[in-house]
Amino acid sequence: MTTASIQQLLSKMTLQEKIAQLIQLAGPFFKGSNQQGEITGPMAEMPITDEHVLNAGSVLGVSGAAEVISIQKKHLEENRLGIPLLFMADIIHGYKTIFPVPLAIGCSWDLELAQKSAEAAAREAAVSGVHVTFAPMVDLVRDPRWGRVMESTGEDPYLNSCFAQAFVKGFQSTDLSNNPDAVAACVKHFAAYGAVEAGRDYNTVDMSERQLRESYLPAYKAALDAGCEMVMTAFNTVDGIPATGNKELMRSLLREEWGFDGVLISDWGAVKELIPHGVAEDEKEAAKKALLAGVDIEMMTECYVQHLEELIEEGSIKLELLDEAVLRILALKEKLGLFDNPYRSADVEKEKEITGHPDHRRTAREIAAKSCVLLKNENQVLPLKKEQQLALVGPFADSQDLLGPWAGVGDQKEAVSLKEAFEHTSSSFLTAKGCGIQDGTLEQMNEAINAASQADVIIAALGESSSMSGEANNRTNIQLPKVQLEFLKKLAALNKPIITVLFNGRPLDLSGVAEFSDAILEAWYPGSEGGNAVADLLFGHVNPSGKLSMSFPVNVGQVPVYYNHFNTGRPKGAPDAQEHYVSDYMDAPNSPLFPFGYGLSYTAFSYQNLELSTEILDEKSVIEASITVTNTGKEAGEEIVQFYIRDISGETVRPMKELKDFKRISLSPGESAEVQFTITEDQLRYHHQDLSFSSDNGAFELFIGKNSQEVLSRTFTLTKKGGQY
Ligand code: BGC
Repeated sequence: MTTASIQQLLSKMTLQEKIAQLIQLAGPFFKGSNQQGEITGPMAEMPITDEHVLNAGSVLGVSGAAEVISIQKKHLEENRLGIPLLFMADIIHGYKTIFPVPLAIGCSWDLELAQKSAEAAAREAAVSGVHVTFAPMVDLVRDPRWGRVMESTGEDPYLNSCFAQAFVKGFQSTDLSNNPDAVAACVKHFAAYGAVEAGRDYNTVDMSERQLRESYLPAYKAALDAGCEMVMTAFNTVDGIPATGNKELMRSLLREEWGFDGVLISDWGAVKELIPHGVAEDEKEAAKKALLAGVDIEMMTECYVQHLEELIEEGSIKLELLDEAVLRILALKEKLGLFDNPYRSADVEKEKEITGHPDHRRTAREIAAKSCVLLKNENQVLPLKKEQQLALVGPFADSQDLLGPWAGVGDQKEAVSLKEAFEHTSSSFLTAKGCGIQDGTLEQMNEAINAASQADVIIAALGESSSMSGEANNRTNIQLPKVQLEFLKKLAALNKPIITVLFNGRPLDLSGVAEFSDAILEAWYPGSEGGNAVADLLFGHVNPSGKLSMSFPVNVGQVPVYYNHFNTGRPKGAPDAQEHYVSDYMDAPNSPLFPFGYGLSYTAFSYQNLELSTEILDEKSVIEASITVTNTGKEAGEEIVQFYIRDISGETVRPMKELKDFKRISLSPGESAEVQFTITEDQLRYHHQDLSFSSDNGAFELFIGKNSQEVLSRTFTLTKKGGQY
């Protein structure tokens, strides 16, 4: 079908048929469905008719080739104009083969592998009938109390933007229309969902437009620049107006300023939620506000199908607005080839062969190992040595709860536990659980203590169950559950080296863990190959290289704590700082326990000789910054070299550091490499008081180092013509 034929199709549609294209329903509503679909929101009785269902435009949460084919077939038999359904689902970090959660992937800083993981996820999803994935989620996050931080790649706008693009490219490929292995991507949650107050899901978001544009918007924009087909609205308010009914945000910014002409979908139930938010009196007003704001598809509520007809007839909404929304949906169906082949890539036989394919599992293992972050390694207790007698204890010692809270059709039974992985090594080990995630018995604990007392080294596999992270799973206490802390303390009393491996979805408060652990490996929810990947690291088959993409606070009282903060007028530690009247805490440092960009290796890297090609930059020239990085240890290893900038004096206050680039290098023991970064004027631009985006002449500091705190620095000056504000 061509665009002209879509126009023609539109002209044949009745008003009711057009309106029904805008509704998205979960699988159980459709004939031919034999499953529940994934229910990710409230599923109240919806007052919709069979007529609405047979004219509906899209389905969510259904996958599996047989199921999709059956629903589509029945639908086409009954739909008057034979308009196929679009099948959308949450393929967040894998379909059947589950990769690490996005926060973990963020810690890999490996864009190629991230893209490869999304390609594999798309291949598996496409053959299982999925057309659109509700990913990537690119909400910038600073508050680990929020359960959904594990869906994001972290706290930095630049790193998030890089990953947003890698994921979009991976899902969609370069040729969505002709590549049967690709699925359309839907970037979410527009906008600033990651800034919900107090880390409580669905809560208020309120910030200056400058902050929004500087920190929160870049990753959504980056996803769209990479060609992302769809956008999903956020549940929260932005500047006092729920995003889903926010005309400024959707029409003015997204559609007009950014030129987005793809499909905009509400989050689950978010159109009707304009009522409890307090900006719509009833469903009719909610429908009106959402459509005027530019929302094309209403997910899982009935405001559009119940009220748009009346709104159009009374003239409150122009028919053209409805037509535009319908056309956008039809255009996506056309782009995906559904008018020619409504089943697209869904194929029962191929599905068996492709989902969980060994190549995908290999990628999962590789990226999981790169996503783990070595936080501590006193006396080089890691890697484990062959001759050591090991005790593998803790609730995650033999757990397959490694996929995280959003693992689609990923099956925990197919996840490799740490114990299973240990069984494939030649090492000798004893194992016992010790306690559950939240509770335990004395007997359990004694059994594990007994095992641990016979070992040379203890590996304590601790963490949060996946149900403690994800949507609506927020915590005010972000420590490990008490029973696990007690267990660890008892292990520590044995006076043996303890290696703590953490499985969890958020940066934790590690009080009670850090002091009792000689080594800490943050494994996050590492996915289907989690046990193998962690074992690869523990036994030294792979050298850790992950670096945190979100800071670990000293305790929850510091939250939000992030590296790209402002200096304040009374910074602590300044040469002329007062003793008392400085910005600090009486009972904790200002710095996080582990900062953004931090992560250790089994080898050591030294940074020396930071040189600049010139100290003067203008709009035409560049500065080449180079630094020598040497592997001073005994193992080959990979290092992520990070490059930050600070604008010393701006028109508005600039962050203490901003990540501008990074490079991954690989060095043998004793080897050195000269790593170069190029500085250009456009990297120095920011939003001024009037929100214009430009740079200012003056002094800048640049930093290169192994994390956001351990850096070497130099200054340079920007001297472009007419550059002073
Ligand atoms: C979540 C979205 C998700 C949608 C559909 C919502 O509750 O916020 O991230 O894509 O459900 O499952």
